[in-house]
Amino acid sequence: MNDAAAASPPARIVLARPDDWHLHLREGARLNSALAFSARQFARAIVMPNLPEPVTTAERLRRYRAEILAALPADSDFRPLMTLYLTDETTPHTIREAAADATACKWYPAGATTHSAKGVRDFRKLYPALEAMRDAGLPLLVHGETADADVDVFDREEFFLDNVLSRARADFPELKIVVEHISTQAAVRFVEENKNTAATVTAHHLLASRNDMLAGGIRPHYYCAPILKRRADMEALRAAATGASGKFFLGTDSAPHAICEKESPCGCAGVFSAPFALELYATVFEECGALHRLEKFASFNGPDFYGMPRNKTTITLEKTPQTIPETFSFGETEAVPFLAGKTIPWRLQ
Ligand code: NCD
Ligand code: ZN
Repeated sequence: MNDAAAASPPARIVLARPDDWHLHLREGARLNSALAFSARQFARAIVMPNLPEPVTTAERLRRYRAEILAALPADSDFRPLMTLYLTDETTPHTIREAAADATACKWYPAGATTHSAKGVRDFRKLYPALEAMRDAGLPLLVHGETADADVDVFDREEFFLDNVLSRARADFPELKIVVEHISTQAAVRFVEENKNTAATVTAHHLLASRNDMLAGGIRPHYYCAPILKRRADMEALRAAATGASGKFFLGTDSAPHAICEKESPCGCAGVFSAPFALELYATVFEECGALHRLEKFASFNGPDFYGMPRNKTTITLEKTPQTIPETFSFGETEAVPFLAGKTIPWRLQ
């Protein structure tokens, strides 16, 4: 920790404009609502392909990108970075067709999360696609959880890394792999120990543990995949995100759902953090005495790992408290943001 910084935290910080390396933008009227929050803060975002009709082909990918670009205000220079949804049937030909327009490909184990039913069932069937990705320089983004019903939901990340991803990692040493939204100490270790391997870290996994979701009442707006873990896991993620390693970077995994889809007998997984994403990360970094590392995590590590240029413009955060609204309009409906009703110390200028 920097003692001077801890004694008197700065009243404002200027950062190179950050990017969001894991984002759900949805479609239609909901896309219009979700996109505005991210375009205000970030220069680029990796857009997840888990739509009801998943982004499994180059044609679908271009159609989805066109929809996003059409939803942006005319003066916005926000750039959606598109991803292809892998299935057991994805061919090397599809990878080569998508390579010009895709930034990466996403591996959802079938059944692991929202709209993953068409995802990967047998990872060995992915190997021809992984070879084509390696040759085209397309990173593999992984939802690192098993969907095996016999594995406890709190163990699904560690189980998947130990039993599945470690094998693909060993078989494709040159392939860049991003373990998305890591939630455990085990995942931090996996990323640190493996070459060409990085991770996105969400604001909610840095700010909350399973107690916030389950102690003294069940709070569905904290429910997400991977599920929030123990306080010790949260502390390990904080140490990784605020540390000196270049392998951990900002990915909100903001995943809005309508209120009725969350407050339900069988609610959807997803935390809606986009409206105040940067302020949430600034809050964590300040709590860790690591504001001087925020720019590295939010603006440098991601583009460096992906081999893309860092952004040239800047944004400014001010030490001005603000209270997070209870709801936001979300297309035809409303969504509840992460930490609704709570006050956070930072505000984006
Ligand atoms: C995401 C969603 O709703 O699309 N939900 C989530 O809890 N993170 C899917 C995902 O990234 O797992
Ligand atoms: Zn996600």
